[in-house]
Amino acid sequence: MKKLIHIVDDEAFMRKNIIDALGENNFTFLESDSGNSALESIRSTRPDLLLLDINLPGLDGLSVLKEIKKTEPDLPVIIFTAHGTSERAIRAMKNGAFDYLEKPFELEEFMIIIDRAIEYGQLVAEVRQLRSEVSREIGVNTDEIVGHSEPMQAIFKLIGKVAPTDAQVLIEGESGTGKEVVANAIQRHSKRNNKPYIKVNCGALPENLLESEIFGHEKGAYTGAHSRVLGRFEIANSGTILLDEINNMPLALQIKLLRVLETGTFERLGSEESIYSDVRLITATNRNPEEEIAGGRLREDLFYRLYVVRIKLPPLRDRLEDIPLLVDHFVKKYSPDKEIIVRPETLNRMQDYKWPGNVRELENTIRSQIVLSHGNILFFNEKQDVSPNQVNQSTSADYDLDFKRQISDTERTLIIKALRRAQNNKALAARYLKINRRLLYSKISEYEIEV
Ligand SMILES: Nc1ncnc2c1ncn2[C@@H]1O[C@H](COP(=O)(O)OP(=O)(O)OP(=O)(O)O)[C@@H](O)[C@H]1O
Ligand SMILES: [Mg+2]
Repeated sequence: MKKLIHIVDDEAFMRKNIIDALGENNFTFLESDSGNSALESIRSTRPDLLLLDINLPGLDGLSVLKEIKKTEPDLPVIIFTAHGTSERAIRAMKNGAFDYLEKPFELEEFMIIIDRAIEYGQLVAEVRQLRSEVSREIGVNTDEIVGHSEPMQAIFKLIGKVAPTDAQVLIEGESGTGKEVVANAIQRHSKRNNKPYIKVNCGALPENLLESEIFGHEKGAYTGAHSRVLGRFEIANSGTILLDEINNMPLALQIKLLRVLETGTFERLGSEESIYSDVRLITATNRNPEEEIAGGRLREDLFYRLYVVRIKLPPLRDRLEDIPLLVDHFVKKYSPDKEIIVRPETLNRMQDYKWPGNVRELENTIRSQIVLSHGNILFFNEKQDVSPNQVNQSTSADYDLDFKRQISDTERTLIIKALRRAQNNKALAARYLKINRRLLYSKISEYEIEV
């Protein structure tokens, strides 16, 4: 595949010179004429190499470099300048530039550096990939979908069957049931597993931005479109797209998406050119599609185009028999070195709870318990152990005003703090809290605080 080089220079002739020198046969180019537009574009389209002029109007090259390195530490950046000073070269290299060149540069040297920079970028990415594979092998497999309940077993088989085909899949389930883990598993077990895998959250952006995010735009397509930006559909070519929260896609965009699915082609905003992209589509929704259609929020014709196979993830409360296995999985995940004991009665209590935030809530509960506890016993008390940011929004809103829960959470936190400060001396802790010792004892046992 041709490598993508992004050139940032305010002088058009300079960009053209570079493109002519490197040749469009060998590379694909993106251009920006200012630092801000470069940053905007890189956010959605990651190039293989960035050529960055240091003298830019507005945000200068060094600031752009610093900004980019925050989110894209592995992206090779070559800085160039018309009049070099040692200071600038040093600062550029210190801030993570791959190299620093003075204009005019010699073509041959330039080509060598470019090849090296691209190779370096690939290498770093490969090392990162290998590292994560290795750490996956030694720890728990964080990609693994845990569950031995009947519905989950059926889902595993279904994933195995559809993954290697190019069939489009629609994944349904309440928030936190594992739709994304299922989508990831399908991608991982597909023939496209070493091809781009792009996720688009349709609920995260306003309509016009979502459209250009999906289909891309040309420079000048609308105010603020400073450079050409490739859409997710284009970047995902030969790979897979996960359209998450499809129920949040505005209706006008649903029509466009339908057309893309019918014809297989689309245009960037502000362009006439039809682009063909070969993508496998996976969609996810936390709503019931039939209800969304009835409510006029989802187009029926689009809905039938979105899937060949539907996978429905049951809420955790309907597969409570998976809880012990999930608990074990998350305990190992968050406490890989220290053994944590989970008492049977704790598991029972967990199986009595309704888990409105599903597996995500269970995972967050265990994680925070492990972080907070200093012993090796896992505690669970549905009243105290669920804090507002651990559950989905509707339940956290309920929690916000849940007087008793708020009060008992505060009590528990205060007691733990006092005990810590008193180094577990209860008499002293009671004094810090200005309560009598008997009350402290009863609270400690009520909240299962470990001393
Ligand atoms: N069966 C499972 N085994 C292991 N981990 C799981 C399982 N199901 C969910 N998880 C974990 O729970 C968390 C939430 O899962 P995920 O993001 O896939 O949910 P979701 O259905 O996409 O939720 P939302 O609708 O809110 O986006 C993740 O950290 C995921 O790793
Ligand atoms: Mg999700």
